[in-house]
Amino acid sequence: MTDFALFDQAIARDQRIEPADEMPERYRSTMIRQIAQHAHSEIIGMQPEGEWITRAPTLRRKAILLAKVQDEAGHGLYLYSAAETLGADRGDLTQRLIEGRQKYSSIFNYPTLSFADVGVIGWLVDGAAICNQVPLCRSSYGPYARAMIRICKEESFHQRQGYELLLTMMSGTAAQRDMVQDAVDRWWWPSLMMFGPPDADSPNTAQSMAWKIKRHTNDELRQRFVDMSVPQAAELGVTLPDPELAWNASRDHYDFGQPDWDELRRVISGGGAMNEQRIARRRQADTDGAWVREAAAAHAAKNLEVAR
Ligand SMILES: [Fe+2]
Ligand SMILES: [Fe+2]
Repeated sequence: MTDFALFDQAIARDQRIEPADEMPERYRSTMIRQIAQHAHSEIIGMQPEGEWITRAPTLRRKAILLAKVQDEAGHGLYLYSAAETLGADRGDLTQRLIEGRQKYSSIFNYPTLSFADVGVIGWLVDGAAICNQVPLCRSSYGPYARAMIRICKEESFHQRQGYELLLTMMSGTAAQRDMVQDAVDRWWWPSLMMFGPPDADSPNTAQSMAWKIKRHTNDELRQRFVDMSVPQAAELGVTLPDPELAWNASRDHYDFGQPDWDELRRVISGGGAMNEQRIARRRQADTDGAWVREAAAAHAAKNLEVAR
């Protein structure tokens, strides 16, 4: 029996770990890091599409996009709350993000060049997020797993709205179809990178699988995403920019080429087109919101005083 016999037993029986349960320090810190990185990604992820809200082509598209971006803010908030159940402090996590000490998904360091990007982000980026996140609904940490259930429902709305936007554009003019194809060409490879490096280069996967934080490896999830996306691309009438993409009957899966992993390393370490701008904007929002946090804290303190 280890020091964490109850924890080990709960993991072995596929039960959830709850905030008051004893847990190894490394499990706690791994969970905080993963949940924080996920929360940061939701919040930073509001920016690339948020830039198009004022330029949406119709009132209907504007309302849809507003709702979607607002959902992402909500996802960030559920996740910061989940991190707080592990003893993390939300202000501290935000500070770490702004200072570059914690990461967010590198997909959001690519620019959104046309309104077709809004559709492609919904289809591919939210689609990849769903592949990653559906198994997290069974993650071993209870508050995280429960937050993921609602988040996944909303992500699936995001994916459908993106696909529906693209279907509409594909039935439009030649220029609109070209915009969609151009956006697909730019977002396909970064979407594949969202599953992380190949399993052979993913040192933390084994421990995360053993703790049932993670249920499938990066390569398994990437394969699932490719298998799901190829028929959707055909239905849409776009070409995925991978000459190696081919059905493999013996594996019962699509074969596909490898993304440029050097590019992923470069973007993660700050070299993407938008890294600086994304963080600068987040820092500005934090500064602009300081008075709201101060006012809320003062109000709460006053209420406490009255209650005494
Ligand atoms: Fe989200
Ligand atoms: Fe989303």
